[in-house]
Amino acid sequence: MKKKQFMTDNKNKISAVAKLIKESTMTVALTGAGISVESGIDPFRGEKGLWAKYNPEEYAYIDAFYENPAKVWQMLKELLAIIIFSKPNNGHVGLAQLEEMGYLSSIITQNVDGLHQAAGSRNVIEFHGNNRWLLCIECSNRYETDPDIIKNIPPRCECGGILRPDVVFFGEAIPQKAMVKAYANAKSCDVMLVIGTSAIVSPASEIPLVAKDSGAKIIEINPEPTPLTDQVANLTIYEKAGTTIPMIVSELKKKS
Ligand code: OAD
Repeated sequence: MKKKQFMTDNKNKISAVAKLIKESTMTVALTGAGISVESGIDPFRGEKGLWAKYNPEEYAYIDAFYENPAKVWQMLKELLAIIIFSKPNNGHVGLAQLEEMGYLSSIITQNVDGLHQAAGSRNVIEFHGNNRWLLCIECSNRYETDPDIIKNIPPRCECGGILRPDVVFFGEAIPQKAMVKAYANAKSCDVMLVIGTSAIVSPASEIPLVAKDSGAKIIEINPEPTPLTDQVANLTIYEKAGTTIPMIVSELKKKS
């Protein structure tokens, strides 16, 4: 497709999405690692993804953590060093503006970087936990994550127990509150924006299906196609989140 045609198509899609959001009584966003790529945080999959560098079998499973916490902490430390100093990008800010304008009810995020909240979003459901807190695996004591506490790895609690981040490892259940809230939101929304996720990790990947089954329109924002594209999504905008979301915000501002 020629560049001019692509841009006209995208412009038409932005107008269509803005119209859907305007007419919707409840719009919910589901976000994945892609929305934070423009903040300098690499995604999980793909050439530059975390799982290309670290085998998830050895680093992402809870059993792997218990087997060799020092090894898994090497990866976590590298990740946290980036996350701690990262800032929200135009995609995060755009979603916070949509909430502020009354157009977005909630964000269900698979991300553990806290950037939605840093951008000002208030109703954020953290499906895979977050990196703001470290928990002792012995006494459950909590510590706020900061560069000092992870200087020596694995970090330890006052009681001597090893600390883990308050995130969901593979092999662990989704926090119950987040699960219940996310599914309730998916069932009641009439538009779902699915942004920057490869949509292959269950149960998060099922959230758009639940929304669709309950009658919602599914809008995907992702430079690459996913299993949702053409199957579940009513419309896909093949663009970066940081470019697309501000355009949707501008379009909604124009019309209100
Ligand atoms: P992935 O790394 O699987 O997918 C990131 C998606 O973002 C891809 O589809 C990219 O095409 C897209 N993308 C890249 N840059 C983008 C941009 N600027 N704007 C919009 N989209 C962009 O990340 P997730 O789908 O979030 O789970 O991965 C799901 C889960 O798998 C994670 O929460 C994590 C991981 O293993 C756990 O660790 C439990």
